[in-house]
Amino acid sequence: MDLLDKERLAPLYARELARFHARIPKSMAAREVARRFMPDGVPMSWMSAFFSHPPVFVDGGEGSVFRDIDGNEFVDFNLADLSNTVGYGKNAVSRALADCAARGIQYLQPSMDAINVSAALAARTGMPFWQYTGTASAANIEAIRIARAYTRRDKVVLFTGKYHGHIDTTLAKGGSPEGNEPARPSSMGVSARATADAVNVAFNDLDHLKAALGKGDVALVLIEPALTNCSLVLPDPGFLEGAFELTSAAGALFALDETHTLQMAYGGLIGERGLKADILTLGKGFGAGVSLGAYGLTPKLARFIDQHQDSDTVPEPGIALGGTTYGNALSMAGARAMLDEVATPEAHTRIAKLGARLADGLDAIIAKYDLPWRAFRYGPRSGFCLTPSLPRTYVQALRSVHADFYNLRHTYLANRGIWDAIVSAGPQVSFAHTEQDVDCYIEVCAELIDEIATG
Ligand SMILES: Cc1ncc(COP(=O)(O)O)c(C=O)c1O
Repeated sequence: MDLLDKERLAPLYARELARFHARIPKSMAAREVARRFMPDGVPMSWMSAFFSHPPVFVDGGEGSVFRDIDGNEFVDFNLADLSNTVGYGKNAVSRALADCAARGIQYLQPSMDAINVSAALAARTGMPFWQYTGTASAANIEAIRIARAYTRRDKVVLFTGKYHGHIDTTLAKGGSPEGNEPARPSSMGVSARATADAVNVAFNDLDHLKAALGKGDVALVLIEPALTNCSLVLPDPGFLEGAFELTSAAGALFALDETHTLQMAYGGLIGERGLKADILTLGKGFGAGVSLGAYGLTPKLARFIDQHQDSDTVPEPGIALGGTTYGNALSMAGARAMLDEVATPEAHTRIAKLGARLADGLDAIIAKYDLPWRAFRYGPRSGFCLTPSLPRTYVQALRSVHADFYNLRHTYLANRGIWDAIVSAGPQVSFAHTEQDVDCYIEVCAELIDEIATG
């Protein structure tokens, strides 16, 4: 029995989509008005592009639940793609933000919270020096720029299946590791010149990386320690350690992008496993829901950027870093509350247990129907792995990014009060989730699989 058979999924999906449309009349009407002012009626294209149904306009929320303007409530397992792991409504972060906003949001001067946030990040990741941006994408842009300035080289090595934000250099596909063939733009509007300095190699493949480093022209190796944007690919034992050694030996810098994985383990993989890196990039407000990115630096790189500040009062050009609203008082206040009061070691232990409960529940469904699948499991993150073994590569991982199964699952769950993660991601448990939330997800998934199986 193939549960992923199009013929089996299509009628159920059509039924669920019609039901969902009927549940959101006010959102449908709001969208029509919104379309007069914004493309497809949304302020940012992902709000429409990520879903096969019309966008739901939000009214508010509390804890793990958000509410739309039609009054539907959803237990959220997407967490705004991990940019809101704190939850909705009143919590430590919203109180800190309100307090800060009442005193002043933005000064172009450091607030004392910047010290607290940097000290907290240093303690949990081991990276001693910190700089802030508005997004993870911007943190990665600055990481690339620093590496190019420091090494005086241009090439950036990436890993197939990665996502580092909408940055011209990393919106690159293909390219031969040996450098005979340059990477090409992976989306419209990106110049081929911008991607020509990038190359993609295979995750979990040190020989491929070695080949890319062979010519001694690489500035930066930029890697997610686990691929989190094409389902989930965990690193083989020794892979990240070996990648750092090879990179250092080739005179290049090694940057870990833990924008997502910081939400999966206390201190991210670097903190959990004691990994080495020259730069560590973070983002998504560390889950506080505020626009904020960051990067950690080793002492040698912190000294380097200190010595090469870009200023109108100095004749020599420095490194172009910074942005007017980066590191502002509001984002720092939110991050401080998130790190000190929400994402504590105990809270991480709690959500890892909930993640294991979720994975166990999915595995039980998979076993009941004898499906050739298994659950993903890494801390609070889980989900359906639609292959018998966990993926080690992007190509294997893509088999679990299944549009038809996802579209049905998303609308089926939404009709029963659950907001599922986007197709390439979780579900993931947030700091606001409870055991009941997790059990509810499992229960509704069990009903769904039963309906698919029994037709
Ligand atoms: C690993 C990783 N890095 C960077 C980004 C970019 O984040 P943002 O869109 O907040 O800049 C993302 C977004 O999903 C991500 O998953």
